[in-house]
Amino acid sequence: MLVTSKKMILNAQKGGYAVGAFNIENMEMAMAAIQAANDLHSPIILQTTPGTLKYADLSVYLANVKALAEQVEIPVAMHLDHGSSFELAMQALRTGYTSIMIDGSHEPFEQNAEVSRRVADACRPNNVPVEAELGKVGGKEDDLDGGSGNPYTVPSEAKEFVERTQVDYLAIAIGTSHGIYKGEPKLDFDRLAEIRQVVDIPLVLHGTSGVPDEQVRKAIAGGICKVNYATDLRIAYTKGVRETIKDEMVIDPKKYGTLGMKEVYDLVSEKIKVCGSDGKA
Ligand code: 13P
Ligand code: ZN
Ligand code: NA
Repeated sequence: MLVTSKKMILNAQKGGYAVGAFNIENMEMAMAAIQAANDLHSPIILQTTPGTLKYADLSVYLANVKALAEQVEIPVAMHLDHGSSFELAMQALRTGYTSIMIDGSHEPFEQNAEVSRRVADACRPNNVPVEAELGKVGGKEDDLDGGSGNPYTVPSEAKEFVERTQVDYLAIAIGTSHGIYKGEPKLDFDRLAEIRQVVDIPLVLHGTSGVPDEQVRKAIAGGICKVNYATDLRIAYTKGVRETIKDEMVIDPKKYGTLGMKEVYDLVSEKIKVCGSDGKA
C-alpha cells in the first residue's frame, strides 16, 4: 500500500535499521524494486529527482507506483528526491507524493533554513514528511553537477537547522558523494556521532552507490535511517538491457525490460538486506 515515509522511518530509527530509498527512472525499475521489497517483507521508498521528472512528470511516476503499491501489502512511499524549489515541492505535495525532500544545500545556511522551514510548514498539515539537507553531498547528482569540495555538515549548525526548520529528516554530508567513486570513500563516523548527539530526528545518507556495504551498516548503526541508492540501479538496469540487445534480432522492449528488471531486482534485494529492513514490513 502507498503510505507516507514517516512511520516506516521512525520504526527503522527505533529498530536500529534503515529503509532503502531507490531512485527509479521508469515503470520497470519501479516494478522490480517493489517486487524485491515485497518478497523480502520490507518497507521501501521509491524516489524521483527533478532530472527524472523532466523525462516524465510527477503524475506519471506517482500513478505507476500507486498502482503497484496497491497490489502489495508492504508499505511503499513515493518521495521527491532533491526537490530543487519550494514550487516543485508544492507540486509534488499536490500531486500526491507521500514524502518530500527540499534541497537548499546549494544555498547559504539562512536561505536553506528559510526554504526548508517553508516547505515543512506547508507539508505538516497534510501529514507529508519533509527531508532537508545541510552540508553538501556533491558529486554528479543526476543532471546536476553538485561540484566537489563538499563542506561536511557541522554538528552545531545541524542542531540549529533542525530546531528552526522543524523538518522530519536531515540529509547530512559525511563523506559520501553522488555517483561512483574513483577511490574508496571514507565516511566520517566521528562527525556522524557528533551530529547524532545533538539531532534526534532520523538522518539520511545520500550518494550510497559505491560505498562498501560494511561502511553503510556502520553508518546505520550510527543513526542513519534512510539510505539512498540511484547510480547502482541505473547500472543494473542498463546492464540487463545491454546484454539482451546485443542480439540484433531482439526488438521487443518486453524482452530487454525483463532482463533489466531481473538485475534491478537482485540489486535492490541485496541493498534491502544491507539496510536490515527485510522482515520489517
Ligand atoms: P548515488 O547515485 O551515489 O547512489 O546517490 C543516490 C542519492 O543520493 C539520491 O538522492
Ligand atoms: Zn542524493
Ligand atoms: Na555514490
